[in-house]
Amino acid sequence: MIKADLVIENARQVITCRGKAPKLRGEMMDLGLITQGWVASYRGKISYVGEEKGFKEKVTLEKGCKVIDASEAVVLPGLVDSHTHLVFGGSREVEFVQRLRGVSYQEIARSGGGILSTVRATRAASYQVLLRDARRRLDYMLRLGTTTCEAKSGYGQTVDDELKLLHISRELHQSHPIDVVNTFLGAHTFPPEYLSRKEEYVDLLISEFLPRVREDGLAEFCDVFCEEGAFSLEQSRAILESGARLGFKLKLHADQLTSSGGAELAAELGAISADHLDYISDRGIEMLAEKGVAAVLLPGSNFFLRLNRYPPARRMIEAGVPVALATDFNPGTAMNESMPLTITLACLEMGLFPEEAINAATINSAYAVELHKSLGSIEMGKKADFIICSIPNYLHLIYHWGINHVHTVVKDGKIVVKEGRIINQGRFP
Ligand code: NIG
Ligand code: FE
Repeated sequence: MIKADLVIENARQVITCRGKAPKLRGEMMDLGLITQGWVASYRGKISYVGEEKGFKEKVTLEKGCKVIDASEAVVLPGLVDSHTHLVFGGSREVEFVQRLRGVSYQEIARSGGGILSTVRATRAASYQVLLRDARRRLDYMLRLGTTTCEAKSGYGQTVDDELKLLHISRELHQSHPIDVVNTFLGAHTFPPEYLSRKEEYVDLLISEFLPRVREDGLAEFCDVFCEEGAFSLEQSRAILESGARLGFKLKLHADQLTSSGGAELAAELGAISADHLDYISDRGIEMLAEKGVAAVLLPGSNFFLRLNRYPPARRMIEAGVPVALATDFNPGTAMNESMPLTITLACLEMGLFPEEAINAATINSAYAVELHKSLGSIEMGKKADFIICSIPNYLHLIYHWGINHVHTVVKDGKIVVKEGRIINQGRFP
């Protein structure tokens, strides 16, 4: 018999996203939908998913088993936000208004604002304040259905400040229901004190930052912002190759503002993901498909920067690239924690179909942080991470946009959000 200590009964629809991971091409249209579906978990892992008949035959409820009636709701896998800049000090609403007046993101950066202004504010902030603010952001994410997120450092830019940011996201991973995957992004921009000696900063990243982060076991991934005005292709290659030698998995901010060969580099180095990709070349698309590198698309930042240009998602899907979605949550280009809104933008602005966008925000996004074997879909043995939305069918998650439909969140088999409110702040024994 299968055991259960949590049961979700009689959901209008269970969107499982089951099957091969990542989903490619036409597979992205398959949500593995079960109508009148039942889901059970035991000790944090999914123990049953299917119809009522099988449930009644196979599953025994443990004493104290929690039963959630989902007859008015749709169940989906917990959303996976595979690209965020979670921990930072200060905010940039003044730049937002400057941009409304017509000043571009790059112009603001050149005049000392942009990433550098957040670096200053982050360095000046205490551990406790950074922790408190990042926790609050995770709370928003959780209420909006995110159960796993990636978090990049990158606003510290000294060894100590970068380690501080990674310690904070690690502490949050341990103390908040959301699973947080750490990425070291010391190569986010050149810190003010190195503006006239950029090569020295690259050398320092390689000789000091990366080994320290590795030694302290603080990040699984290493990322670089490869862009004109940030790190060149050659600098990016040198940093990522050193990271790989130390055992980091690789990511790359690639082809965001210009076509710089970033996607090709990510594929050549066997990165797990290449992110942004607004200006990806045809060759870049081919290479990502060939190597199975996830393309993490971040329509929220295009929208917020009013770029009128989005990554060629349709061409990537057709070419067989594993396409994923994430918020890019950060104070400059995407001050928004919402994966559901990201999904809606992906449909409206990049022409994804709802089914493709949901797979991109769950199982394919899990693939982009190499967690697709343990989460991202509702399948036996995977983590019991679900969201229960008060909607008549899954299309309403996207079509009825800009509000929060998430009623209940289950993380590792425990109810952490009930009626839209967080009821369990900490992790569980
Ligand atoms: O992903 N591209 C680089 N980094 C961020 C923006 C960071 C900022 O403006 O603070 C991004 O868009
Ligand atoms: Fe980013």
